[in-house]
Amino acid sequence: MSVATHLGIRLSEYDARIRTFIPFYEEMLDVAADAVPSRARRIVDLGIGTGALAARCLARAPRAAVVGIDADADMLAAAARRLGSRAAFVVDSFLQAPLPSCDAVVASFALHHVRTRNAKRRLYRRIHSALRPGGVLVVVDCQPSRDSQVAARERDAWTAHLRRAYSARQARGFLRAWAAEDVYVPLEAEMDLMAGSGLDPKVVWRRDAFAVLAGRRSRVAQGSRVAGT
Ligand SMILES: C[S@@+](CC[C@H](N)C(=O)[O-])C[C@H]1O[C@@H](n2cnc3c(N)ncnc32)[C@H](O)[C@@H]1O
Repeated sequence: MSVATHLGIRLSEYDARIRTFIPFYEEMLDVAADAVPSRARRIVDLGIGTGALAARCLARAPRAAVVGIDADADMLAAAARRLGSRAAFVVDSFLQAPLPSCDAVVASFALHHVRTRNAKRRLYRRIHSALRPGGVLVVVDCQPSRDSQVAARERDAWTAHLRRAYSARQARGFLRAWAAEDVYVPLEAEMDLMAGSGLDPKVVWRRDAFAVLAGRRSRVAQGSRVAGT
């Protein structure tokens, strides 16, 4: 299914509408780009969409090129227009496309499309292998609390954001439709998945149900010994 169909919008509206759907969208992308090493030479963006995060990453890392992987060719065409010659694209699922060796992997509002924890575990292991030592995975997404009362308050806050642009009925309809297709992994479980793949996860930003997580691959190559240990 195309993103436009999933969100019930026209593709040309995406950049404006995503801000009405997701609170703190711009702030989260800014924080995520800041978590990318400024010396990065290659950044892989999973589910790059129209390239809003990738554009920020390219500004942050002036010598970097981006490889954007997305299953939706129309989204990639929009990203190509935005990013120009510093970006290359792969039209495929990031669950199967080979991941090139890189200094950072970033993903904003894309990994909630991974349906199972096992699939995400496999993806995180592949990301760990693709990252150079010291490289980082940066994930921006909805990661609700495990506590059902806290999660209910987080959902109310998300509804309040939607209500700035939509009726109560529309807001309820959006959340219901997305919940039927998207998988929002609780924050602690997402951190465990990252840690299980060998990354060292940190919460770099958190508000309501939304989070920016950064998982760093150790600078010491696995199997090598640190002098004096
Ligand atoms: C909600 S959009 C987010 C786009 C962009 N990262 C942003 O922050 O605005 C999700 C994107 O992930 C892509 N996507 C979802 N599942 C995917 C998969 N398994 N492989 C590749 N792309 C996928 C969609 O096509 C879409 O472009």
